[in-house]
Amino acid sequence: MKLRGLLTLAMAAQVIVTAAALLASYAVTGSAGFGTAQLIALLVSAAVAALLARLCTRAIETSEAKRAAAQSAALSQARSDSAQMTQAVIRTALDAFIQIDDSGVVLEWSLQAEALTGWTREEALGADVVDLIVAEPLRAAFRQRMARLVPELSAAPSGMRFEVSLIDRNGDHILTEASSTVLRVGERSIINTFVRDITHKRAAEEQLIQAQKMEAVGQLTGGIAHEFNNMLTVITGTIEILADAVKDNPPLATITKLISEAADRGAALTSSLLSFARKQALQPAEIDVNELIEELAKLLATFDKKVEIVTRLGGNVWLAYADRGQLSSALLNLAINARDAMLDDGKLTLTTRNVVFGVREAVAVGAGYAGDYVEIEIADTGTGIPRAILERIFDPFFSTKEVGKGTGLGLSMVFGFVKQSGGGIKVASEEGSGTVFTIYLPKAETSALRPTGYDDRKIVGGKETVLCVEDDRDVRRYVTVQLESLGYKVISAANAAEALAVSAEGTAFDLLFTDIVMAGGMNGRELAEQMVAARPSLRVLFTSGYAYDSLHTQGRATMAPLLRKPYRKAELARMLRRCLDTAVDSAGDAIPTPYSVQADVEAFLRRQAAEDNGTTRPRR
Ligand SMILES: Nc1ncnc2c1ncn2[C@@H]1O[C@H](COP(=O)(O)OP(=O)(O)OP(=O)(O)O)[C@@H](O)[C@H]1O
Ligand SMILES: [Mg+2]
Repeated sequence: MKLRGLLTLAMAAQVIVTAAALLASYAVTGSAGFGTAQLIALLVSAAVAALLARLCTRAIETSEAKRAAAQSAALSQARSDSAQMTQAVIRTALDAFIQIDDSGVVLEWSLQAEALTGWTREEALGADVVDLIVAEPLRAAFRQRMARLVPELSAAPSGMRFEVSLIDRNGDHILTEASSTVLRVGERSIINTFVRDITHKRAAEEQLIQAQKMEAVGQLTGGIAHEFNNMLTVITGTIEILADAVKDNPPLATITKLISEAADRGAALTSSLLSFARKQALQPAEIDVNELIEELAKLLATFDKKVEIVTRLGGNVWLAYADRGQLSSALLNLAINARDAMLDDGKLTLTTRNVVFGVREAVAVGAGYAGDYVEIEIADTGTGIPRAILERIFDPFFSTKEVGKGTGLGLSMVFGFVKQSGGGIKVASEEGSGTVFTIYLPKAETSALRPTGYDDRKIVGGKETVLCVEDDRDVRRYVTVQLESLGYKVISAANAAEALAVSAEGTAFDLLFTDIVMAGGMNGRELAEQMVAARPSLRVLFTSGYAYDSLHTQGRATMAPLLRKPYRKAELARMLRRCLDTAVDSAGDAIPTPYSVQADVEAFLRRQAAEDNGTTRPRR
C-alpha cells in the first residue's frame, strides 16, 4: 500500500515538474515554438524523473528487504517452535523414541529410551543401535533386516509397526512393539522409531489364553471323569460283596482282587482328572504345612537316587487351608518330577514362608484374592524346562517322559488343586540349572477343634433312618444296599423334589445323605439348606465326586461333611457315625452345639409374668 502511494506521488511529482518546466521555458522565451529553453526544461524534467525513479527503486528495495527479513525471522521462529514441540512430544511420549541413520547409528535417544534399555543418551548417541539393544546371536540377522528397512519404509508413507525382541543393558529380554517412519534429509535417510514395552501385556494375554484353554479342557475332562466316577462307585462297592461270596474259591477271589485293584487305579486316575478340572470334591482343613513337608522329606529320603533333600522351613508359618490329602499328593507329584529331572547328586530344596499379597501379586500367580498365603517352594537342580514347552506343562496328558513312565496328569492335578483351593502357582525354570515351582495356599482363618479319632478297622452301623438322595439309579441302589447292610433304615429319593416331598409328608428321618451335583434343578447343597431350615437338628452328609468349586460357593464354616466318591463301605459307615454322633464340619472337625437363648428368654418371660401377677416374691 505504501509502495503504491509512493509511486503515485512520484508520477504526480514528475508530471508537475515537467509541466512547470515547460511553462517556465515558454514564459522566459515568450515564443510558442520548441527551442533551446524547452529542451533544457525537458532535460531538467528527465533528470528529476530519473532521480525520482532512483528514489522509488531504492524505497522498493528497502521495503522488499525488510519484508524478506521479517519472513525469514517468522520462518526460523516457526522452525524453532516446531523443533521445541517435537522435542516436547518426544520427551512426554509414553514410548521410547530412538532416531537412527540408515547405517544404524543413533542420532536421538529419549529419556524413555534410557528407562527402557538402561543405556543413557550420552552412551547411546553415535553408537550402533544393533550392538546396544539386540542380543548377540540375533545381530547379523537384525542387520540384514535393517538393510531392507529403509526401502520398505520409503514405500510405506504412514510407517510400519512390528514386534521385536530386544535386550536391555543387563541382557534381560524385553518384548517390544516398534513403529518406524523414514525421513529423507538431503541425501540421508533418517529412521524415527517409537518403542513400547509389551512384555507384561503379552504375559497377561498369555495367562488369559492359558486360563481359557485350561477352563475348556477342564470342562471336558471334568464331565467324563464324573461319569467314570459313578461307574467306579458301583464297581468298588459291589466287588466287596462278590469278594465276600467267593472267598472260598481262590481263583475267583484272585479275579475279584484284580478287578478291585483296577477299579482303585481307575479311581486314582479320575481323581487326578477331577483335580485338574477343579471339580474334585475337596475337604479343606487347617494344615501345618511345615509338619507335612517334614513327613514328605522323610518319604523322599527313600528315593533310590542320590538326591539331597534340604528343608528350609520358615518359623511361625501360618496354618494353610486346603485339602490335606490332595496337598500331599500335589507335593509328591512335584517332588517326583524334580527327581526325574535330576541326575545323581541333585538337590531338592523345600522351602516354606508366609507371604502377604496385594492385588497385583495375587493376580501374577493366579491366586484367588489379595491377602495372606503360605508359600511352598520346591526347587530342583535338574535339567530345567525348555522355553518351548513351558506353557504346556500344565496341560493334561502332556508329558516328555517315555510311554508308560508318565501320564502327564501330575502337574494338571497340582494346577487344578491349587486353583480350586483359592491359591496360586508359578514356575521358573532355566535349562541346565533347574526348576522352581512355587505354590501359594490361603492362610487358614480360624482355629477349630481337632477331629476326634475313629477306629478305621471297625465298621459300626446304626439303627437310624437315612434319607438317601442320589440321581444315578445304579449308585442309589448300591448305596441303599450298603446302608441297609449297616443296619440303617433307608428312604431313597431320585432328586431334590422327591426328597422335599418326603420331608413335607412329615416322615421322620435322622440324616440326609445327598449327592451334591444332581440333574433336575436343585442341587444337594440347596436341598440341604432348605431341609435344615425346616429341621434344624437334621444331620447332613454330602457325597460327590464332582463339587463345583466347593470352597468358593459357600462359606467355609457352613460346609457339611463330605464323602468323596468313589468310597468304600468302611468309609461310608465311619462318616455316617461321625455325622450322627457328633456335629462335624466339612473337615470332620467337631462343631460345638449351637447355644439357643430361646429357652432362657421364655423362662425369664414366664418368671416376669408370674411376678407381675404377684404370685412370686416382689422384684428387688
Ligand atoms: N521339575 C521339573 N524339571 C523338568 N521338567 C519338568 C519338571 N516338572 C515337570 N516337568 C516337565 O513337565 C512335564 C509334565 O509333568 P507332569 O507331572 O504333568 O507329567 P509327567 O511327570 O510327565 O507324568 P506323571 O506326573 O503323570 O507321571 C514332564 O513330562 C516334564 O517334561
Ligand atoms: Mg509328574
